[in-house]
Amino acid sequence: MKAVELKKDVYWVGALDWAVRDFHGYEVPRGTTYNNYLVLDDEITLIDTVKHDFADETLKNIEGVVAPSRIKNVIINHIENDHATSLDAVMACAPEATIYISEKGKRGLERFFDLSKWNVKVVKSGDTLTTGKKTFRFIETPMLHWPDSMFTYLEGDNILFSQDAFGQHIASAGRFDDEFIAEYSEAELTDSVIDYYANILMPFGPMIKNKITEISKMEVPIDIIAPDHGIIWRKSPQSVFETYLDLANGKANLSVAIIYDTMWHSTEKMIVPVSEGIRSENVDVRVIKLRATPMSVAIKEFWKARGALIGSPTLNNITYPSVAELLTHLRGLRPKNRLVGAFGSYGWGGGAVKEIYEEFKRMGLDAVEPGLQILYKPSMEDEKGCYEFGRNFAQRVKEYHDKF
Ligand code: FEO
Repeated sequence: MKAVELKKDVYWVGALDWAVRDFHGYEVPRGTTYNNYLVLDDEITLIDTVKHDFADETLKNIEGVVAPSRIKNVIINHIENDHATSLDAVMACAPEATIYISEKGKRGLERFFDLSKWNVKVVKSGDTLTTGKKTFRFIETPMLHWPDSMFTYLEGDNILFSQDAFGQHIASAGRFDDEFIAEYSEAELTDSVIDYYANILMPFGPMIKNKITEISKMEVPIDIIAPDHGIIWRKSPQSVFETYLDLANGKANLSVAIIYDTMWHSTEKMIVPVSEGIRSENVDVRVIKLRATPMSVAIKEFWKARGALIGSPTLNNITYPSVAELLTHLRGLRPKNRLVGAFGSYGWGGGAVKEIYEEFKRMGLDAVEPGLQILYKPSMEDEKGCYEFGRNFAQRVKEYHDKF
């Protein structure tokens, strides 16, 4: 792929990873991109690098615009491996370049590279770099989503280089939001933003709100938001701010996600009457079977709905492993403002439903207790109980949703 111009003298020079499906355990059905950017001025500046497997590709893209040896400044907005591990390849071409990085970024980068051989300048919020006619302004964004993270704003061109924030895991022919929407749809793009947020940024909602407020107070025009993954926002950069604020505020649909697994289909047989009970209250329901669905999709659907019911059979007195895996992911992501419940089947001794509620408590989630357990296989009478369980849960979700 050749370099793509964002504005005059500002280029995307990244790499498309069409093939990746497992991104450090996060399933990415559309692949991803590693975006980095080249800015031409009296001094030439590169913003971020790419995953090491794609070092040759970004260098080739840079070469299509300018000889990499002419790079004078390398801004590292984020040191995670998918963005910083080609730095040595870039610095081999431009050994005299200066690296601009946050304090925590420098401390982290030292664990990957011997920095003593390079010029490194630590920057903080408000610091600027002038390269001729252009000025870059640095904005630290700690824990969005790593301690080192920062944004870089290019004055005059009004471009916010936002590293992981506002990204999506999408590999596609077009680099921009309008191109993706023309090829697919706005709804698919929004869904990818939610997927990315739910799986990566969910724990950092308060920081996101603060940072968006801080940037709004700067009262700087933003024509383009250029993240390090996926589509670049030029049609409606403000829309992704609004989407992020909604997500950070815990906005959800009045709906219930039923996320479950099953051994011999007994837990699965509970799904139809439970979901009919939910529907009887005019609450939407979406059913996700683990092991048949990527975990990242289950997490996204959990986050989109105001209520979630987790279904698990009991295996050896504890939660079924795929359901336990889901709960482990959720614990790390620290969801809030969601109402949850649990159900499942068991043979000679229960355990899963109790354990799931204990996990809900550890997460601090609001739960409707005591859940529902069925011995061996639901009878006709049990199915009525499942229906009532679903109906009661939907009523509680409606009351809960009204608080937001
Ligand atoms: Fe895309 Fe935090 O790395």
